[in-house]
Amino acid sequence: MSPRQDRGGPQAETSGGHATGDAFPGEVADLFYALCGRRRDVRGQFTGEPVDDAVLRRILGAAHAAPSVGMSQPWDFVLVRDRDTREAFREHVATERDTFARELSGEDAATFSKIKIEGILESTLSVVVTYDPDRGSPAVLGRHAIADAGLYSVCLAIQNLWLAATAEGLGVGWVSFYREPVLRELLGIPERVRPVAWLCLGPVTHLEQTPDLERHGWRTRLPLDAVVHAERYPDS
Ligand SMILES: Cc1cc2nc3c(=O)[nH]c(=O)nc-3n(C[C@H](O)[C@H](O)[C@H](O)COP(=O)(O)O)c2cc1C
Repeated sequence: MSPRQDRGGPQAETSGGHATGDAFPGEVADLFYALCGRRRDVRGQFTGEPVDDAVLRRILGAAHAAPSVGMSQPWDFVLVRDRDTREAFREHVATERDTFARELSGEDAATFSKIKIEGILESTLSVVVTYDPDRGSPAVLGRHAIADAGLYSVCLAIQNLWLAATAEGLGVGWVSFYREPVLRELLGIPERVRPVAWLCLGPVTHLEQTPDLERHGWRTRLPLDAVVHAERYPDS
C-alpha cells in the first residue's frame, strides 16, 4: 500500500475529503511557506488604491474559515471606510503612542521616535475584528476550562485574513495602540464584545523583506532554536 493510501487519500477524496500528506502537491507547500515569509506588518507602504469587492470577500472568507473553539466562530468583522471615523481613531492612537513613548528613555526612546506604528489613513480601509464570548454559549465545547480559547479563535481568524491578504498582494497592519472602551464607543460595539484588532488593509507599493521593527533596530526575530524545546519547558 502506498503512503498515499495509508493516509486515506483516495478514500478521503471519494468521501468528499481532501487528500493530505504526500498527496498534497509539494508546490502548494512551497507557496505556503513563501507566503508566511512574505507576510509583513505594513505601516508605511499603503497606496490607498481601491480593493476589489470580490478580493475583499475572499479574504474575509479565509478569515471566516478559521478554526474556533466549539465551532463558536466568535468573530465579527467591521469594515471601516469612513474618513471621519478613521481620523477619530487615528487621533486616539496618537495619544496612546505618546503614552507609550513617555515610558521609554535613552536609546529606546530615540529608536521608537522614528518608528511608524500605523497606516490608518493611508490604507484603503480598516477591518476591526471583534470577539463575542456569547456566540455559541453557554455550552462552548472546549472553553469550559480556558476562557481565553475564544480569543485564540479570533486571533486565528486574523492570521488567516493576514495570509490571505498577502496572497492577494495586499498589505495588512495591526494597530493595538488603543483603549478598548474608546474603540467600543467609536463603533457602537456592545460592552460584552471585545475589539481584538484594528487592521489597516489595502494595496501597497511593496512588502518589506525585513520587519519594520527589525529594520529600525527595535528587536530582531529570535532564532527558531531559541524557542523550540524538547519534552519540558526550559529552566528559567
Ligand atoms: C497583537 C499584535 C498587535 C500589534 N500591534 C501593532 C501596532 O499597534 N503597531 C504596529 O506598528 N505594529 C503592530 N503589530 C505588528 C508587529 O509589530 C509585527 O508583527 C512584528 O514587528 C513582526 O513584524 P512582521 O509582522 O512584519 O513580521 C502588532 C502585531 C500583533 C500580532
